[in-house]
Amino acid sequence: MNRPLPPLPGLHIRPRRNRRTDWSRRLVRENALSVDDLILPLFVIDGHGTVEPVPSMPGVMRYSVDELVKVAAQAAALGIPALALFPNTLPALRDADGSEALNPDNLVCQACRAIRAHVPAIGIITDVALDPYTSHGHDGLMAGDQILNDETVDVLVRQAVNQARAGADIIAPSDMMDGRIGAIRAGLDAEGFAHVQIMSYAAKYASAFYGPFRDAVGTNATLIGDKRTYQMDPANSDEALMEVSLDLEQGADMVMVKPGMPYLDIIQRVASTFGRPTFAYQVSGEYAMIMAAAGNGWIDGNKAMMESLMAFKRAGCRGILTYFALRAAEKLQNQRS
Ligand code: PBG
Repeated sequence: MNRPLPPLPGLHIRPRRNRRTDWSRRLVRENALSVDDLILPLFVIDGHGTVEPVPSMPGVMRYSVDELVKVAAQAAALGIPALALFPNTLPALRDADGSEALNPDNLVCQACRAIRAHVPAIGIITDVALDPYTSHGHDGLMAGDQILNDETVDVLVRQAVNQARAGADIIAPSDMMDGRIGAIRAGLDAEGFAHVQIMSYAAKYASAFYGPFRDAVGTNATLIGDKRTYQMDPANSDEALMEVSLDLEQGADMVMVKPGMPYLDIIQRVASTFGRPTFAYQVSGEYAMIMAAAGNGWIDGNKAMMESLMAFKRAGCRGILTYFALRAAEKLQNQRS
């Protein structure tokens, strides 16, 4: 009656054998996440002793420069290689031309000098774009409702040199103007900053996932219209390869895809096509989604964090800009001990 079932075809190959134990899963694991993969974005505000939460990004703060130095020291102690600075400029200092971007004593420059002095071992990445400094919230100069390309690039070169003078190690243009990487490279070289690296936001999409970041730097309040005439159309993939190849030809040392998780296919194409250091920005909206779901008890926040970061490694990223950097670094450290 109870005749044994005939063996299922192909069952001599059982993928589950390798997954049976923890040691075996570790042994066959294809990718690894380490603290060396993490870049911590930080928001800078005016003041002294000021730490201000960003409501749409639970756990993320804006820091005055003195407080920022403490967080930079904490990041360095955990082994995080680099941090990325973003200013929340006082409204009174924002104008149509974003002139505060060129002030050698602006928030980002102050932060660079302070971190350089107190936390020498950490890499400093600065954002090149005019949006935190313009009254209209756009990354470039405007004429009517047009974003001017070449005129903007001239200002971005000066902004990059201003940041390099303050001690920035990596210049990260996030503005998506055409030709800016070559112009910034030439400008840096001419001013004696040939050693300063460029990480280009090469494939940056016009995305709804930047919303909480714009709260953090105060540009949701200023931005007129949207950024679709310079940031990429989310429908496009081949165009991302063109953007990346242009930036590499013009001298980018590293390239970035942004946002991250909704664009893993782009990351994989970029990494496998060019084989150059490729980074992802797990942007504010991605962070906010995970935190919101975890806050409601709908997902396990720590597990979702680690899984999302591993997904970037699997896709081919060399590293990830992530608001989880401190928390992930702590978790990785505890896993080892
Ligand atoms: C500005 C800039 C943006 C981000 C990084 N640099 C926002 C934008 O383009 O509007 C987004 C980062 C994030 O959402 O975490 N040039």
